[in-house]
Amino acid sequence: MKVPVTHLNLIIAWLWVILGFASGFALGLGFHDEKWLGGYASHKRRLYRLGHISFFGLALMNLMFYFTVRSFPAHSSLAITVAGWGFIGGAVSMPICCLIMAHQPKSRALFLIPVLSLITAGAFTLWEVIKL
Ligand code: HEM
Repeated sequence: MKVPVTHLNLIIAWLWVILGFASGFALGLGFHDEKWLGGYASHKRRLYRLGHISFFGLALMNLMFYFTVRSFPAHSSLAITVAGWGFIGGAVSMPICCLIMAHQPKSRALFLIPVLSLITAGAFTLWEVIKL
């Protein structure tokens, strides 16, 4: 049985909420130490924090997409499939980019992957919403 991409968006949404809590727990193990990871404003600690926040932000984007598509007369089209995978691609690649960049500051260009994935997903979703 073929799983509609929107069901995967819903699964990713809740999995990312749990990963957000878990990453918060991990941050919580060291954040009381002012010098942890080079201090609050250090590059590494900022990227770790960004990764933590991205779990919640992108969980919300996937959840919003899931409920938006449910309001469409037709729940599947090429645009919806591309958008669905775009939101999943962005959700998966953003925290990974944060982790890589925390240790490899020169890898900034990697962020093009989640950024382009999410912009494409948002644009295709808007296109479907406008067509309603
Ligand atoms: C189990 C739940 C959570 C835990 C244990 C947790 C833990 C933490 C910790 C320890 C920090 C500080 C990191 C540092 O000092 O570098 C932090 C920062 C942050 N968390 Fe969470 N968090 C949780 C849930 C959430 C949720 C649900 C949101 C938003 C939807 C969120 C948004 C943020 C933001 C925006 C920051 C950055 C704040 C700042 O700039 O100082 N967190 N979190």
